[in-house]
Amino acid sequence: MPEPVNLASKINQRLPTELVRLMEAIGAIAAHQGRQLYLVGGAVRDLLLEQETFDLDLVVDGDAISLAQLLANSTGGKLVVHTRFRTANVHWNEWSIDVTTARSETYDRPGALPQVKPGSLSDDLFRRDFTINAMAIQLSPGLYGDLIDLYGGQEDLKRGLIRILHEQSFTDDATRIWRALRYEQRFGFTLDMETLELLKRDIVMLDTISGDRIRHELELVLKEAYPEKFFLRADQLQVLPQIQPGLKGNDVLSVRFEQARQVSSPNPPPTGLYLALLAYPLTGEQVEQLIERIRLPRPLAQTLRDTCELKTEVTALGAADLRPSHLYSILRGYTPAALMATSLASDSPTVNRNIHRYLTKLRYVRPTLTGEDLKKMGLTPGPRISEILNRLRTAKLDGEVTDRREEEKLVRQWLR
Ligand code: CTP
Repeated sequence: MPEPVNLASKINQRLPTELVRLMEAIGAIAAHQGRQLYLVGGAVRDLLLEQETFDLDLVVDGDAISLAQLLANSTGGKLVVHTRFRTANVHWNEWSIDVTTARSETYDRPGALPQVKPGSLSDDLFRRDFTINAMAIQLSPGLYGDLIDLYGGQEDLKRGLIRILHEQSFTDDATRIWRALRYEQRFGFTLDMETLELLKRDIVMLDTISGDRIRHELELVLKEAYPEKFFLRADQLQVLPQIQPGLKGNDVLSVRFEQARQVSSPNPPPTGLYLALLAYPLTGEQVEQLIERIRLPRPLAQTLRDTCELKTEVTALGAADLRPSHLYSILRGYTPAALMATSLASDSPTVNRNIHRYLTKLRYVRPTLTGEDLKKMGLTPGPRISEILNRLRTAKLDGEVTDRREEEKLVRQWLR
């Protein structure tokens, strides 16, 4: 029998005091209802790893919704209920806590969302993805802080292993294949041998996962500190080509992701930039397949299409003596993320300089005169006005006019 472990002092040390008070409050309310309450999942794992954690998932062996309601009422929190999964979220300005009824899950078919029914805590832990995510901490007064580790999660954390709990895990929910690699790479762990074999066996099951769910997993990967590690591993294990055969996780991608972080610092790179770099090797047809497979929303889809199209402009962009107005006409309309990705993907200093010049200066250039000014100068409303404004912008871009007076002079010449 492993030694009993109590994590009360770790909770106090590592979680913000306000959050600890909220957990104590809800533990007391649950006890008052004669219920047991537990902290579960990633927060328990992160506490044991001594990593930062703010995302709290609680499980109660009773009705989560009424418990969350009482917590919200007594602390001034806001309640959001998801009836289908018997879960509730209570949030305050800074914090948020999810409360779920302990449940067991069954899958009607691979990749479907699970059917849920109330169950015991051990059912609830058993339905989870990996042993390291399947531990709980008692929050009920008297037992507060006691670790519940039914499936060897602590041992796997110590040994650095990602291990599923049962043989059907990846078949039931193939998003766990992505999750396994994400945790493996985040923590520098390894996949347990049997888990690795089952993962390889079930890679085809990724085809049962809806586009929205795969996209969600992709977004989670892109939020990691070093997403390229995931892509290297996912390529090596043939997980990446299962989504789109042209995707590559390799050293080139790693270098580009690192550069993306440098140019975006102190912020993380926008999703569109990472995605454009990931999709860079794809042909136009493959880009369309990817967009459809992961149901990419329109703005991000546009970035991928733009990036693909921009490849045909790279030769033109490599000319050192491009007139600013010509450069503007080549790059006009492309999304900034696509332009940035093209720049990072190009080894030519001239291409980089031209894109940088467009992004930082040229794209903001507008004539001083407006459509209203042109009307006052005698032009009748209509397409001619936009045409003249465009010609004025071209003149301004190329330095042929520098102020309002010169713009007016030029317009008068054109009108003569
Ligand atoms: N979970 C699962 N199977 C999934 C998704 C989630 O079993 N396909 C369980 C895991 O126990 C996980 C918990 O639900 O710990 C919460 O899910 P999520 O918030 O996605 O994961 P975290 O562990 O909080 O991980 P992260 O640190 O990435 O937020």
